[in-house]
Amino acid sequence: MFDKNIYQKRREELVQKVGNGLILLLGNDDVAYNYKGNTYAHFRQDSSFLYYFGLQQAGLAGLIDAESGDVTLFGNDLTLEDVVWMGPHPTLAERAAGVGVTKTAPFAQLAPQLAKAKSASRSIHFLPPYRYRNMLLLHQWLGIPVEELGKKASVALIKAVVSQRSHKGPEEVAEMEKALAVTAEMHLAVMKGAKAGRVEAELAGIAEGIAASHGGYLSYPIILSINGHILHNHDHSNVLKNGDLLLGDFGAETERCYAGDITRTFPVGGKFSQKQKEIYEIVLHAEMLAIKSCGPGIRYRDIHLQAARNMSEGLKQLGLMKGDLDEAVAQGAHALFFPHGLGHMIGLDVHDMEDLGEQYVGYSDSVHRSDQFGTAYLRLARELEPGFVFTVEPGIYFIPELIDQWRAEKKFEAFINYDAVEAYRHFGGVRVEDNVLITKDGHRVLGPPIPKLVQDLESLIS
Ligand code: GLY
Ligand code: MN
Repeated sequence: MFDKNIYQKRREELVQKVGNGLILLLGNDDVAYNYKGNTYAHFRQDSSFLYYFGLQQAGLAGLIDAESGDVTLFGNDLTLEDVVWMGPHPTLAERAAGVGVTKTAPFAQLAPQLAKAKSASRSIHFLPPYRYRNMLLLHQWLGIPVEELGKKASVALIKAVVSQRSHKGPEEVAEMEKALAVTAEMHLAVMKGAKAGRVEAELAGIAEGIAASHGGYLSYPIILSINGHILHNHDHSNVLKNGDLLLGDFGAETERCYAGDITRTFPVGGKFSQKQKEIYEIVLHAEMLAIKSCGPGIRYRDIHLQAARNMSEGLKQLGLMKGDLDEAVAQGAHALFFPHGLGHMIGLDVHDMEDLGEQYVGYSDSVHRSDQFGTAYLRLARELEPGFVFTVEPGIYFIPELIDQWRAEKKFEAFINYDAVEAYRHFGGVRVEDNVLITKDGHRVLGPPIPKLVQDLESLIS
């Protein structure tokens, strides 16, 4: 955890912002893997709980009185029997003191406190739950049907949390730099280890091992595949051959749970074919130009559309797209090749605060989500502000099922040269991704550089 003053200040700001009622911040519990006593080895605390309380233990909850400023941490101390199996641990009171909280109580005392507040008609602000245990607890305590908990969550609390967590403090940026240093080590090991004859799973295991060896874990399940056109592909069963284009999208999470999220694409054996190099350079150029365009006050949707326009230009030069490209991008024709958004906020979550609702995180009162295929998947569209950290991750993919459907529907025939696209049916996909911080007057790419220029990749891999 960070210094206790950081958590105290965050909670005080939260109280100011919410201003009334009680704020309930539920931590996570251990999750059973295949039976109750065999839990997932890696405990992951809830990110908003971590932001305000910094404690990594299972089974905690924080209650903040937004009128008096009173803070109580609920949880249970270990019994002697627990100590026999798990060894001695700090008491709840000791842990609480470490994050500036002086009042603690057994977990069972939370329910009566909430009941008292409810009968006094006080507001109980809670965040949208995503784990079933927390859904059941909220349902029991507040009497809200499980399926309605998401929409009954407190918008005032969501907005307050988003406004704080969106602006990363220097201690958070330093932690993200650490995540990216480990992430760089993972990517370099994969690049060096990607030899013909190896199975993708061997490389995924190396990457995961490096993340774990630094005391943290992965920030999301590893995507490492020669089928890079399948966007969230978690299959690692293919045997590598020279010339396969391997897409690796993975990152480490630090012990304090800050995430890195990096993608690199390179050919097994180290030599890009002409066709691979042409597509790769279109994506890389779009990525570097997008990063260059990032700064405070710029709408990220405009950068997304600029990247789409930019890649369409490259695809037109290759004969894959045609016609008026401004019109093509306005209508969404580029999404055949680039069907996802340019990036998302990142911090304590790899898709930061996605549990709180993307409309509050990536959109604003004046920037609304598009319903057009492709741009609809953009998670961050609003104006960038100093302290925002987000990904820049354009890609070009050849998705046979999508190509076939659009072609059969004669979709965007004015902009897409389907005969030329056929020659790329088995190409796979290319994505290049870095993590960027908005500063007072521009931006900074976080983390150590990881090779991405064609010549750098070729010399490292071969
Ligand atoms: N790294 C996976 C994603 O951004 O969705
Ligand atoms: Mn990403």
